[in-house]
Amino acid sequence: MTSIAGKVAFVTGGASGIGLGLAEALAQRGARVVIADIEAAALDRARAQVARGGAEVLALRLDVTDRAAFAAASDAALARFGAVHLLFNNAGVNADGPLDRVTYQDWDWVLGVNLGGVVNGLTTFLPELKRHGREAHVANTASVGGLVGMRNLGIYNASKFAVVGLSEALRADMKPHGVGVSVLCPGVIATALPTSARNRPAALGGGAASAPAPASAAAPQLMTPAQFAAQVMDAVLANRFFVSSHAEFRELVGQRNRAVDASYRGEADPAAVSAMRALIEPF
Ligand code: NAI
Repeated sequence: MTSIAGKVAFVTGGASGIGLGLAEALAQRGARVVIADIEAAALDRARAQVARGGAEVLALRLDVTDRAAFAAASDAALARFGAVHLLFNNAGVNADGPLDRVTYQDWDWVLGVNLGGVVNGLTTFLPELKRHGREAHVANTASVGGLVGMRNLGIYNASKFAVVGLSEALRADMKPHGVGVSVLCPGVIATALPTSARNRPAALGGGAASAPAPASAAAPQLMTPAQFAAQVMDAVLANRFFVSSHAEFRELVGQRNRAVDASYRGEADPAAVSAMRALIEPF
């Protein structure tokens, strides 16, 4: 994408953390911004914050797991701004714990938001991103937890590996349409993610009792949302696919990649390699 100025961006989970950082960065670069979020009070504050520099902002209450609501949010965005050029599927939650201790409700909530929300965002907006004939880009927020499995984060890992995988396929699928794709794989960003149970529906095990204590001040705060959002803006402009935040994860992710590499045996059949190239967009 050559310019963010004048484009319309739709950001899910835009009322807090990374999504709010993205919305502010987009507004500062001249985009009109739709922030969509499940949390009404935070959404009001975010709208005022993002509009501070004079940007046009539309704030919409949206549960990304609700497909009818997603369609209505798309209608509202198009009615206000006429087109959508940038889609940030960013809303996400976490329920941690070892996989022998987690519940079906943990699985359903986290997969529903982290994977289902991305599925719904894509299904809602891909036709629009291809329709207007202007530059377009999708950025899906995964995590470094989408690149390497982690203790106590099995559900989160499953959701984020899925987002990385579907984003790789999306990159190949959208290439002929000129729609760029990025997948965001941040490490530790200072956000409200540790209290994401605040948005957990009662039907999926939510409620005041299940909300964990806010992160302690001693938790690593290695990067602010604004710092990470600046990296994302650069990646969108360069159509760079992977956006990582912390070099601290490089060796561990690299070890995993090398373990995959070391698992191959024998010589490759060149004809089969050519056939595979048709399926896989080279990095
Ligand atoms: P956050 O909690 O500050 O922001 C998440 C936003 O998503 C909140 O505004 C929340 O209200 C919203 N949300 C939750 N459920 C929703 C739903 N069903 N529908 C619509 N909105 C919903 O947390 P953060 O960290 O900014 O999270 C953003 C994304 O970044 C998530 O996908 C998360 O998994 C990912 N991430 C965060 C990392 C971090 O260190 N903070 C690291 C790696 C990935």
